[in-house]
Amino acid sequence: MTAAELVIVGCGGHGREVYGIVTAINNAHQRPRWQVLGFVDDDPTPASKECLDRLGVPLLGAVSWLTGRADPPAHVIGIGSPAARRSVGQRIDPAGSGRPRQLAATLIHPAATVGLGNTFGAGTVLFAGVRVSTNVNLGRHVHLNQNSAVGHDTTVGDYSSVNPLAAVSGHCRLAAEVLVGTTAAILQGRQVGTGATVGAGACVVRDVPAGVVVKGVPAR
Ligand SMILES: CC(C)(COP(=O)(O)OP(=O)(O)OC[C@H]1O[C@@H](n2cnc3c(N)ncnc32)[C@H](O)[C@@H]1OP(=O)(O)O)[C@@H](O)C(=O)NCCC(=O)NCCS
Repeated sequence: MTAAELVIVGCGGHGREVYGIVTAINNAHQRPRWQVLGFVDDDPTPASKECLDRLGVPLLGAVSWLTGRADPPAHVIGIGSPAARRSVGQRIDPAGSGRPRQLAATLIHPAATVGLGNTFGAGTVLFAGVRVSTNVNLGRHVHLNQNSAVGHDTTVGDYSSVNPLAAVSGHCRLAAEVLVGTTAAILQGRQVGTGATVGAGACVVRDVPAGVVVKGVPAR
């Protein structure tokens, strides 16, 4: 099997962490799965460019480098913010364009633990130490950050992020573009609406409406 070409969208810290996941996946197999062509970014900071130099991975250009190609390589969006990830995702795959969706890579770090009967959408990324239980449905471009956990029978919508060490319990329903802050807990069966943010360290004991920010213990 030859390695598939891959471009990482976003060269900030989150994107470079995603590059680390790709490298770990390649190292875990006899033959590399992915050949990283480089990063694309509309507005790379000088610090990020310096980090790319140190990693020895090229910056290919702006996001248009990817969207302008007739036969584009696979991509993964390495952007931490759900709203920014969705915005870039819609540029890559505009709704109603009628053309086939570009191939988004689903990446699972070898040090993640994944149970049975789960479905993961294209572009979804599981970082090191993640634990996904059983019969979990993750949408497209969902990011489960380091050491986060998602319980049984839970659904996480497109472009949502679960930040490091957060725990989403069983039978929860997170809509699209939800951000669960680092070390937050969501109790079993709770629902979190589209675009809502759960602050770092919060404990969600009631359903969270769309678009609101909740924080604290219990989260309000
Ligand atoms: C909750 C959150 C979204 C609020 O962001 P914000 O609107 O920019 O909030 P501010 O920093 O302006 O703070 C507003 C107030 O909320 C408090 N606050 C901020 N985050 C809080 C949190 N997680 N829990 C409790 N209180 C918090 C601040 O102390 C401040 O209180 P004050 O008005 O009494 O001074 C943000 O702080 C957060 O927790 N984001 C998640 C971050 C994360 O997961 N990072 C990991 C990246 S890998």
